[in-house]
Amino acid sequence: MKNIKKDATVIENIGKILLDVRRPLKERFRALFTLRNIGGELAIRCIEKCFLDTSALLKHECAYCLGQMQDSLAIPKLESILEDVSEEPIVRHEAAEALAAIGLKTSLPVLRKYINDPCVEVSETCQLAVRKMEECDTDENAQSENPFQSIDPALPLPKASYDSIDQLEKILLDDSQPLYRRYQAMFSLRNINSKESAVALAKGLSCGSALFKHEVAYVLGQMQNEATVKQLAGVLFDETQHEMVRHECAEALGAIATDECMDILNRYLKDEKRVVRESCEIALDMCDYENSKEFQYADALIKAMS
Ligand SMILES: [Fe+2]
Ligand SMILES: [Fe+2]
Repeated sequence: MKNIKKDATVIENIGKILLDVRRPLKERFRALFTLRNIGGELAIRCIEKCFLDTSALLKHECAYCLGQMQDSLAIPKLESILEDVSEEPIVRHEAAEALAAIGLKTSLPVLRKYINDPCVEVSETCQLAVRKMEECDTDENAQSENPFQSIDPALPLPKASYDSIDQLEKILLDDSQPLYRRYQAMFSLRNINSKESAVALAKGLSCGSALFKHEVAYVLGQMQNEATVKQLAGVLFDETQHEMVRHECAEALGAIATDECMDILNRYLKDEKRVVRESCEIALDMCDYENSKEFQYADALIKAMS
């Protein structure tokens, strides 16, 4: 889907859907994913306008998409979002991660500047980002081991450095290990992509920082393994958990998309936390999508607009 050439009017019309606060959030998300898939400067400029919105969920997804597009044109905006300390932590976190996903060394000074940010989600993200950008210098092939499409905040461990899921699980759960190494074990487990590795990963939902747990939930969403529904639901149910973690668990349930997942998500559509209830709304739309793969998320919208 990348780099589809579309004329400017089509892109601008999709941008209008993204910015239209009267439209249901799920339509705006679909517009965002369409713009990400189209790529190019005009799509990036449309996405950047959305940072004036009041939905932290939508804004953090915009930052995520800009990172995944890996286009340096988005760097100035992402840096300004990271620098804006009045912006919500989940959005600043995603902006920092996006800068690392784009991966230009010119972003290192700003990432280093926030390595001790008072907001722990932001400071941990910046630590990981700096570490990953250093690592990428020495191991450029690791990304190719990723069977998923994402650009991740850490590279998996070198295959020669472990010989079992058990060993990776121990690193994942070990508080005394550096955060980056635990992330590496996380992505190695994800890339194994079996029921056993998913179950090992899900144990990570009950230890570590909010940032760590939200990333575990994210990779469980990518794996779409039904064996982890109970653990993900357990975190969504627990209102004492950080909203960023609950949000990511909701979206992972949306990606797994069984009837049980849909029941759970429906129950949290009125959650006290805006980012959680909006995540449930988007997750239910993801379920619809997963369950009706005869049409492509993005294609349907492009067709409608042309
Ligand atoms: Fe994130
Ligand atoms: Fe997220």
